[in-house]
Amino acid sequence: MDSILIRGGGELNGVIPIAGAKNACLTLMPATLLTEEPLTLTNAPRLSDIRTMTQLLGSLGAEVVSLQGGQVLAMSSHNIHNHTADYDIVRKMRASILVLGPMLARDGHAVVSLPGGCAIGARPVDLHLQALEALGAELELRDGYVHAKAPGGRLKGGMIDFPLVSVGATENAILAASLAKGTTTIKNAAREPEIVDLVHCLRRMGAQIEGEGSSTITIQGVDRLGGATHPVVTDRIELGTYMLAPAICGGEVECLGGRIDLVGAFCEKLDAAGVSVEETERGLKVKRKNGRVRAVDVVTEPFPGFPTDLQAQMMALLCTADGTSVLEERIFENRFMHAPELIRMGAKIDVHGGHATVTGVETLKGARVMATDLRASVSLILAAMAAEGETVVSRVYHLDRGYERVEEKLGACGAHVERIAS
Ligand code: EPZ
Repeated sequence: MDSILIRGGGELNGVIPIAGAKNACLTLMPATLLTEEPLTLTNAPRLSDIRTMTQLLGSLGAEVVSLQGGQVLAMSSHNIHNHTADYDIVRKMRASILVLGPMLARDGHAVVSLPGGCAIGARPVDLHLQALEALGAELELRDGYVHAKAPGGRLKGGMIDFPLVSVGATENAILAASLAKGTTTIKNAAREPEIVDLVHCLRRMGAQIEGEGSSTITIQGVDRLGGATHPVVTDRIELGTYMLAPAICGGEVECLGGRIDLVGAFCEKLDAAGVSVEETERGLKVKRKNGRVRAVDVVTEPFPGFPTDLQAQMMALLCTADGTSVLEERIFENRFMHAPELIRMGAKIDVHGGHATVTGVETLKGARVMATDLRASVSLILAAMAAEGETVVSRVYHLDRGYERVEEKLGACGAHVERIAS
């Protein structure tokens, strides 16, 4: 398992290109199952999770051709010969559950392994199943798999009222309802930009959908969908992550492709902490206003609130802030695993249930630390770049799931980051 070696100290100055969004691409790719026509995604990120989804779609009979080094995914599903998403693939990546809705909508039946939990939480899929049942699906849980059928071979439009906001369940519902017979209304829908991007792509394919980005989405099912070419939206979590690099190290970095509307709540917190964000023609330019950042409190919420996927990275910044910050994690039940690793680097953090109290220190110290999940891994790299001395982050396979070429992108701005193969 590879590790990453970081030598801390020194400002960061330069530009960082932001890739297409992993969490948009992972819901756009299953849309190929909704049509026999070619669906091509451009601006796709080059990540292991995308390769896993490619493998899963291939196991069903879809063709996914990766072009231009993985930035273009040319997909076609004219020959789906297998309707079972196997545990061995699904357990590696929870987003695999997103093939359930489109497969069921296209052919009236699907068998998908339950994804199981992950480091940050139990991650149930009950809301996905509730949504599909509202569209007439008959579901049976057997041997760790969901066996799904659409009576008469086609889903029916219906009313879906989510008791809590779920990104994935909203995506599964939209994918399934786009081919259902009749109208579907989704209440308490997730509002994330990745869902807006999915709707934009489905609309290009001929879907009739209104309300994306709001809490109520209406879908008029159609009999068939065509192909399309669609650019994956910028990754707001990669964007926020790299915006924190000059905030924690000093210097000035321009994130190419960055858009304020993708990171509104996050930018408000950066401003309160003493970090300036300037919109340029190419993206967002970030630097500290004057020296050490100030402590701020953070509460994670569904979009447009502060994203849970930036909580670990923000904690790394606040470990070096002047004052005490409280971070409240409201989305997942176990998303502070980066805290013990940051404490190894001299951070002062008390975790009680869903709250972490961070008392900022002047400097962190390099140490050997372990990545526990995707976003925790990159928070350790941010902390290490600002720390004194050397840090080695192990288990960086977590990192490769969501960040392409980290050492290159940070190295180009003056960071000392190198990968140690092992
Ligand atoms: C998506 O996960 C993202 N993943 C996550 O990003 C992100 O953290 C999360 O949304 C929240 O923004 C992808 O898009 C591939 P949810 P998802 O359903 O859809 C509970 C990353 O780092 N819930 O919005 O699984 C759930 O347990 C990853 O890129 C149910 O109870 O998240 C959680 O507490 C991590 N039942 C809350 O809802 C369900 O059926 C929000 O989960 C579904 C979810």
